[in-house]
Parts: sequence; C-alpha cells; structure tokens
Amino acid sequence: MDAFTPQPRPCWIAGRPEQGAGATTVTHPYDGTEVASVAVPGPDQVERAVAAAAAVAREFRRTPAHVRAKALLHVSQALAERAEEIAETITAENGKPLKWANIEVQRAVNTFRFAAEEARRFTGDLQRLDTDANGEGRLAVVRRVPRGPVLAVAPFNFPLNLVAHKVAPALAVGAPVIVKPASATPLSALLLGEVLAEADLPEGVFSVLPVRGADMKSLVTDERLPVISFTGSTEVGWSLTDSAPRKHVVMELGSNSAAIVCPDWPDLRWAAARIATFGNYQAGQSCIAVQRVLVHRDVADEFVPELVAAVRALKTGDPHDPEVEVGPLIDEDNARRVEEWVAEAVSGGATLHVGGGRTGTSVEPAVLQDVPVDARLWHQEVFGPVLAVSVVDSVEEAFAQANATEYGLQAGVFTRDVTVAFEAAAELEVGGVIIGDVPSYRADQMPYGGVKGSGTGREGVRSAMEDFTEERTMVLTGIAL
Ligand code: SIN
Repeated sequence: MDAFTPQPRPCWIAGRPEQGAGATTVTHPYDGTEVASVAVPGPDQVERAVAAAAAVAREFRRTPAHVRAKALLHVSQALAERAEEIAETITAENGKPLKWANIEVQRAVNTFRFAAEEARRFTGDLQRLDTDANGEGRLAVVRRVPRGPVLAVAPFNFPLNLVAHKVAPALAVGAPVIVKPASATPLSALLLGEVLAEADLPEGVFSVLPVRGADMKSLVTDERLPVISFTGSTEVGWSLTDSAPRKHVVMELGSNSAAIVCPDWPDLRWAAARIATFGNYQAGQSCIAVQRVLVHRDVADEFVPELVAAVRALKTGDPHDPEVEVGPLIDEDNARRVEEWVAEAVSGGATLHVGGGRTGTSVEPAVLQDVPVDARLWHQEVFGPVLAVSVVDSVEEAFAQANATEYGLQAGVFTRDVTVAFEAAAELEVGGVIIGDVPSYRADQMPYGGVKGSGTGREGVRSAMEDFTEERTMVLTGIAL
C-alpha cells in the first residue's frame, strides 16, 4: 500500500474519476493506522451517476455480446496482472490475512472470466407451441432482457469478489451498474473502477459511489435503478425491500452455518482441520463460515479434541504476516460483541474449550460446547472466530438442529453414505449442501444464496445473470416446425 496521502482516492462517476464533495478515511482494522483517504461524492454527483446509467441502458442492452465479453475478459486479465497490489489493498482495508486476500483476487479473476464466457452463451430458449391445436405453426422465442440498471450494495468481508459478483453479471447481460461499496472497505471497489475504466464500455455504464450507508436511501428508492443486489446484514437487507417494495431485490444475507459430522466419516482429523480453518478464515467473517458443529456421539470423543487442537494451532496476529491465518475483526465494536456473546454462552452453561479472549480488534479463535439454544452464539450469526459444538444422537437430530434457526445459507455434511447425502439435500433448509466438506465451500460459477432469513435470489455468475434479467417472449406464427 502507498503511504497515506492527503489527496483522496477518486470515486467513479459515470466511468470517470472525480474528487468528491467530501472525503473519508479508511483505517487498517488490525492497528487502526490510516490507509487512505477516499472521495465521497455529493448528491449532484450521485444524480449524474444515476442519470448516466439510465441514459445508457438501452444502448448497452444492445451492445454485441462479443464486446461485453471482451471488456469482461480485460477486467479479468487486468486483475490478474495487478493481483499482488490488489491483495495488499484488501488486507489493508479489511484486515484479512494476505493468504486469503490472494485467494479472493484469484476468485475475482475467475468471476470476471466466467462472466465473459457466459455473456457469449446467454441466448434464450425456443419453445414449440404446437403441443396444442391452437398453437400449430407457432414457436416461442424466449429471451432474457435486462430489468434495468443495477444498484450493487457490497459488504466489507469480500471487498473485491462480492463486488465482482454483482458487476460482472450485470455487464455480461448489458445492464449498467452503480456500486455502493462498504463504508469500511471502498478501496478494492475503487481499484476495480480503474480497471473497468480501461475496458471498452459505453460511457456511464458503471459508477463507484463510496457514500455512507445512511446516505444510500435516495439510491435505494430511485426508480431508475429497478434492481438492487445487496449483500450484507439481515436487518439492512429486509429494510431495503420495505423501502423499495416494487424493485427486484436480490439479497445475500447472514447465516450461522452448520457442519454435521456423521459417524461413517473416515478421517476425523481431516474434518476437524477443515472445520477449524473454515470457522476462522477471515476471522469468521464470511456468511458461510462454520459456526455450529453437530457431531454424532459415536465419534465425538475422538473428534472434539482434534477440533480443539486444530483451532489452538491456528496462527493469529498481523494479517500482513504471510504465516498468519486469523487476523482481526473489521472493528472493535464487532470484536467486543463477539467477546460478549462468548461470555453470555459460558454464563448460560456452555463449556469453553479454547480461546475467546480479545485484544483490540482481534479475538482468539474459540471452541465452545453445549451452547444453550437461546444464546446469541447459537441462534444468531456470530461473524467472528467462534465454533459452537453440539453432540447429537442421530443424523436426523443433526438435521433438525441445523434447521432450527431463522437462517439457511449452506450446510456441510461429512458423510460418504450416498443415502445420507440425498437425505441431507432433501431435508436441510438451505440454498446449498456440501457433502464431504464444510459449508464454506463456494465455487464462483455455482448458484449461491439462501432461504429463510438468509436471503432471496441467487448469485453465481449465471444465476445472477438470470436474476438481473426477465423473460421476453416473441411468438412466431405460420412457420414450419
Ligand atoms: C459470503 O460471505 O456470503 C460470501 C462467501 C464467499 O463468497 O465465499
């Protein structure tokens, strides 16, 4: 990272860099040092961004697929070329260890590449209508057209790739996009703006507006932005649908994801290591980080000590240290909250096996057992480096416990029994079930999203392209079929 400079990083208004009406400072979550100053656009700049997106929507929708694919591929390649610098930026603003920041950049490279590929494939369907007498000689050509410009509201926990998951599919279908990055982590999105500006895209197709969350309301209610793609907290997510009931809102919200360890799983040490890693990666600040661990009684005595040992072995500290696996939380308020939830669970009767202490923004990775179901650590999303273990007497009980929550994003089931696998996929109330691994597995091309309080709609490049578009049917008559 560059040293802190007084000149704020420009925001992107209709594809052009501009200084703002004000500025904000981004600080490093680990030690509070200033990382950069960022331009904050004023209301007239926000208006110009939205007006430009609306004005270019028709032209962009009709841009040939190869032009959009080429622009997306350029972004993918440029991110790959600048990978080191971008990973440093992610670590500086978000505090995730460099190792995870590097993975995030690589994922964003793939997300844009997948979008370039999908842009070329996105064709539509033919439906023959002569299945009934009144449809003889008729054929429906069903294509998908953009619903309109997209407002992309991104979270702090993946400041590049979760922006990519909104921008790439929007550009792939020919929809202008306005990005509102998380207030704590605007730098990666602004950097993406630099790369987008180099691509051959019509003017006005993208803007990056690092406005404060509290100043987002005008964007949310603006009818020129008929689609909102939001990733973030459950509370904010549902308030968006209340503020804009007529909009198409895609929401990726929180979860308290469960990993289920079945008695047939052959390698408990491996399962413990995976759960330890993915309960604590990014200090637990991923919506699909493992939070609840449901382990069958037959294997609990062997599994729990393995898990505790694996968590104890995780190296914590300064995220710029390449050896460090667990860095700080995004801010001290959240670190305090996690500390408080751990204390609440312990005072409710939970056993603390390891961790739970706090220094500033860093929380020592923790494993608790028998957390009361009414403790926040069990039924809410902790978004911190904490695992809550519960021993169950059957796989059915594990499924019931996993479902006994308002959330439903992903679940992981450690089994090699194919009947249990299908049962899990049928019974678990989630958007995705990972067999033989943690719930935290995500491939950027696959559908991703939740049920119940975890949201609505799906990301994953192809799925988001479908969400950002609607079917338009053309019926041909008098033709040979
Ligand atoms: C999330 O926190 O919802 C995103 C997880 C991921 O992309 O791996």
